Amino acid sequence: MSAPLIVIGAGGHGRVVADLARAAGFAVAGFLDPAPTLRGAEVDGLPVLGDDAYLASAAPGSVLLANGVGGAGKPEIRRAVFERFAAAGHLFPALVHPCAHTAGNVTFDPGCQVMAGATLQTGVQVGVNALVNTGAVIDHDCRIGAHAQVAPGAVLCGGVTVEDDAHVGAAACVIQCLCVGAGAMVAAGAVVIRDVPPQARVAGVPARTMG
Ligand SMILES: CC(C)(COP(=O)(O)OP(=O)(O)OC[C@H]1O[C@@H](n2cnc3c(N)ncnc32)[C@H](O)[C@@H]1OP(=O)(O)O)[C@@H](O)C(=O)NCCC(=O)NCCS
Repeated sequence: MSAPLIVIGAGGHGRVVADLARAAGFAVAGFLDPAPTLRGAEVDGLPVLGDDAYLASAAPGSVLLANGVGGAGKPEIRRAVFERFAAAGHLFPALVHPCAHTAGNVTFDPGCQVMAGATLQTGVQVGVNALVNTGAVIDHDCRIGAHAQVAPGAVLCGGVTVEDDAHVGAAACVIQCLCVGAGAMVAAGAVVIRDVPPQARVAGVPARTMG
């Protein structure tokens, strides 16, 4: 039996992560959330245990953590939450939903999250604290960098690299062998047919730099 798992953040993403963790076989103890309105509350049948101070007395390893901060468009918040607790020695297991299809050689770094309905084909690598959201399709040999996000229903064709902190928006498509640069944002519904430079924001079909 693994240590109990606590989800940081009881908002929409946190609730999905709690469900993911339970489906993946973890014993979810509850949420941490600083919102005064959630103090002592239950969310989706799980207690809100307190705020970050709750962990002050928890030795690293006595609990596992999951990042419940979604942060679409603001990857720095999700990254900061992960880095703060990881630096204190806390462990974030990779969470992979049993209803995701993952080829046998896919690699999952600590804290990554793969949601229900996602497909990850052979040779895919998922980085630290990266998020592959509901129903995303990640074809062969793609690499998803640390803290990067692939939003619901997005499609990465084979050999695509999504660098650290980049975001591929919902239902966007990136054609084969391209690179989405570090910190870049691909808007929802975009079709990317050229490499996206670091920190760029692109949208449309075909995707162009946003004005
Ligand atoms: C790209 C994005 C970040 C832009 O957000 P924003 O900075 O708030 O931009 P605005 O809504 O002010 O729109 C700015 C302009 O971009 C256009 N635009 C915004 N999103 C667009 C999109 N997905 N495709 C095409 N054009 C888009 C707007 O029409 C607007 O054009 P205008 O200036 O000619 O009127 C956002 O629209 C987006 O697509 N986010 C991804 C959402 C997502 O994947 N969520 C998943 C959560 S799990």
